Amino acid sequence: MAKSRSANKRKRSSSARARSATRASARTNEGKSMRGRSAGSSRGRNGGGRDDAIALLKADHREVERMFSEFESARSHDRKSDLATRICSALRVHTTIEEEIFYPAYLEATRDTEIHHEAEIEHEGAKRLIDEIESTGPDDDHFEARISVLQEMIRHHVKEEERSSGMFSKARASGMDLRALGRQLEERKLELKGESDAGGMPRMPEGGRSRGAGRDMRMRSH
Ligand SMILES: [Fe+2]
Ligand SMILES: [Fe+2]
Repeated sequence: MAKSRSANKRKRSSSARARSATRASARTNEGKSMRGRSAGSSRGRNGGGRDDAIALLKADHREVERMFSEFESARSHDRKSDLATRICSALRVHTTIEEEIFYPAYLEATRDTEIHHEAEIEHEGAKRLIDEIESTGPDDDHFEARISVLQEMIRHHVKEEERSSGMFSKARASGMDLRALGRQLEERKLELKGESDAGGMPRMPEGGRSRGAGRDMRMRSH
């Protein structure tokens, strides 16, 4: 029964997000039509803001990079295990908010299927590896190799998103309402982190197969 209520809640939450993304797209289109008329207004909505969607996503990237660096210099098994859990959790939250909110808004605003689809496929690869890390745990012979390969995958993906001809630059040039998207990303991020801190794992965007596995890894690490 509790499970059913939880599923219904997730379903309602997902519908609300879809409606919200649609509203964001509408605002994005409105933003496009406004650009020629009011450059000042457009700058206010998406021009290099320190608290907009791109700033939030870049801050996530820096945080994960910092944790990967800490993992590289960590010596104890417990420390590595703890960092791996935090890296996987942070990446799940980040990929989820991008896939649920930022990527659809980007596609709507730019119609750029090439960059969008490539980013989605890169997420799929990273999530498969995160599943493996969480299901095999820190005692597996390939644990450190998996973290190292995940780090390389994320490094490449982040470079693609942040390069001058990449998704973030194109998003900023498109007139998307990055401030509104930033608020949506922040809200959803807090929701997902709350679920993760409560012992569950963030819901995977494509019905991922490892919900709860992160908790297993933490349990095995002690
Ligand atoms: Fe990202
Ligand atoms: Fe991404």
